Amino acid sequence: MKMCWHCVAKFFVLCVAVVRVDAVQRFIEMPTYTEVNPGEDALLKCRISDKKGVCSWQKDNKPVGIYRGKYEWANENSPVGGDCSLWVRAATLQLDDGQWQCQVTASNYDVQDALSSPPAALAVRVPPQSPRILFNGSHVMPGQNITVPAGSRATVVCEARYGNPPAYIEWYLEKERLTAWSQTNASEVERPRVWASRSVLELGATRSAHGRQLACRAHHPSYPSPYYKDSFTMLDVTFVPVVSIVGADASSLGNLEEGSSALSLECRAEGNPAPYVWWTRNGQVIATNGPKLILAPVSRNHSGIYGCQARNSLGTSDSVKIEIDIKYPPRVTWVGPDTVVEANLFSQVTLECKADGNPTPSYQWYHNPTPSVHINSAPEDGYPAATTAQLQLHNVSYNQHGRYTCVAVNHIGVEERTHQSEPITLNVLGPPVGAETGTAHAWSGAEGRVHATVCADPAPRRAAWLWGSLRLDVPSQIGRYRALEPSGANGCYRYTLLISSTAVSDARVYVLHVENERGFSSHAVSLTVHGKSLEDTRLDIQ
Ligand SMILES: *[C@@H]1O[C@H](CO)[C@@H](O)[C@H](O)[C@H]1NC(C)=O
Ligand SMILES: *[C@@H]1O[C@H](CO)[C@@H](O)[C@H](O)[C@H]1NC(C)=O
Ligand SMILES: *[C@@H]1O[C@H](CO)[C@@H](O)[C@H](O)[C@H]1NC(C)=O
Ligand SMILES: *[C@@H]1O[C@H](CO)[C@@H](O)[C@H](O)[C@H]1NC(C)=O
Ligand SMILES: *[C@@H]1O[C@H](CO)[C@@H](O)[C@H](O)[C@H]1NC(C)=O
Repeated sequence: MKMCWHCVAKFFVLCVAVVRVDAVQRFIEMPTYTEVNPGEDALLKCRISDKKGVCSWQKDNKPVGIYRGKYEWANENSPVGGDCSLWVRAATLQLDDGQWQCQVTASNYDVQDALSSPPAALAVRVPPQSPRILFNGSHVMPGQNITVPAGSRATVVCEARYGNPPAYIEWYLEKERLTAWSQTNASEVERPRVWASRSVLELGATRSAHGRQLACRAHHPSYPSPYYKDSFTMLDVTFVPVVSIVGADASSLGNLEEGSSALSLECRAEGNPAPYVWWTRNGQVIATNGPKLILAPVSRNHSGIYGCQARNSLGTSDSVKIEIDIKYPPRVTWVGPDTVVEANLFSQVTLECKADGNPTPSYQWYHNPTPSVHINSAPEDGYPAATTAQLQLHNVSYNQHGRYTCVAVNHIGVEERTHQSEPITLNVLGPPVGAETGTAHAWSGAEGRVHATVCADPAPRRAAWLWGSLRLDVPSQIGRYRALEPSGANGCYRYTLLISSTAVSDARVYVLHVENERGFSSHAVSLTVHGKSLEDTRLDIQ
């Protein structure tokens, strides 16, 4: 033996042979974990080299006898030869499930080489019950909901009971495999041979998981193919509502016109449980038909800041706001100070126009507008006298006498909208006013006409032509001289002195004297009488 330990490699085989001679017995195969279906046979393996003792088996620390048809040596001759393997025939859970040990007595009473294998389990398979999911201390029926608030963590348990060996449990969120926090296997109290397997899942509830299926899968070889069973539940993830407004695009909000446009908005709320939705206008709750806000047709009263909000048992959403601005065409609401305004000549006059409209209208004032067919359209010709709400006349003259209208203008979309006021009549009161000097021409022997134009309001009550020592009241006639009734328009009067058979001696200055309640004026017209040839005279006139 001693020399054997010094053997070189090439003598190794010989060396082993030599060792065997006085070798101690030892295991070359020990029983291992074995599973068997009920009623089937299980082979518990145990092989010994240099066996000199006697084989025996223990189950759960108790000796097992050899009984034909139940516990049989695998190799009839072998207990002598070294194979101590044991057949367990027609295995049953009650009799055979347990910890088995293979043992061999010592070679001799003075040799301490008795063998005992570590216990190896023989599991007689028992299919576990179908897996069940527990949440918050109670069973969740298949397909039922698990309700968890978003952002929280839910502890969900799956158990598969009364199985042997314990079932192996997996979790799935739809197709995605989840990692359980732990699985424990505990023998059932009242039936210690079988196991209760429990897997605990810590599930982070997210909104995206809402409505998805959470499945627990128990694997067990005794289950029918495919050797697993599922239990599933639906995730009901609750969350505070989030709202958005549908139908509020810039183009539909930009050109809302009173009376003709309609607006349909929806407050879309996502939330679980299904939220209650409401609308506000300028902060006040308004009555709507659920999440829909329908304004048809829109009116200016509908303008304001609208908000949509939703609430459920978890909380209240933020308010989403939009501004609604209803456009409407201008309307002149007031012009003044009155429909008829009297002003002193050379005084200051202010006419004012008020209009509403959205957008805020601009103003145009027109003097003596041509009467328009439609009150809503601006006068077609003429420039505005002013483009402000107030028309200021700083030094009123007679030619500013007349009718004034105000036109309010705004734009809705690309369209111009206008509204024209009732006219204001401006009467300019003052003494007669006209050119102080003038000229006239006549042909010798023909009819001569001397004109002067005077504006006055009130109308002149008296007028007379004066020349030399003569005075001819209007209207009247002396000899060849006739003072005609004035022709008037717009507060101005054209006076004519008619001279028949004009003589060269008629060339002189004629003075028109006009008078009204406010005063008087004089206008000197110088008459030139022509007696020359037609051509020469024409040149003169020019
Ligand atoms: C658990 O159940 C109890 C009563 O059944 C209930 O009051 C509690 O809100 C539940 N907890 C959760 C997280 O569902
Ligand atoms: C489960 O939750 C969904 C979504 O909240 C709900 O529609 C459904 O009615 C619930 N089912 C049960 C059985 O409670
Ligand atoms: C429970 O049993 C399963 C299946 O047999 C096994 O995979 C798992 O490791 C066991 N867990 C524990 C803690 O024993
Ligand atoms: C607008 O509101 C006023 C007062 O609130 C009301 O008198 C009027 O009838 C409303 N007009 C429309 C078109 O709704
Ligand atoms: C007003 O107009 C008249 C006539 O054109 C002129 O004589 C007068 O000086 C003016 N007055 C003022 C205050 O401008």
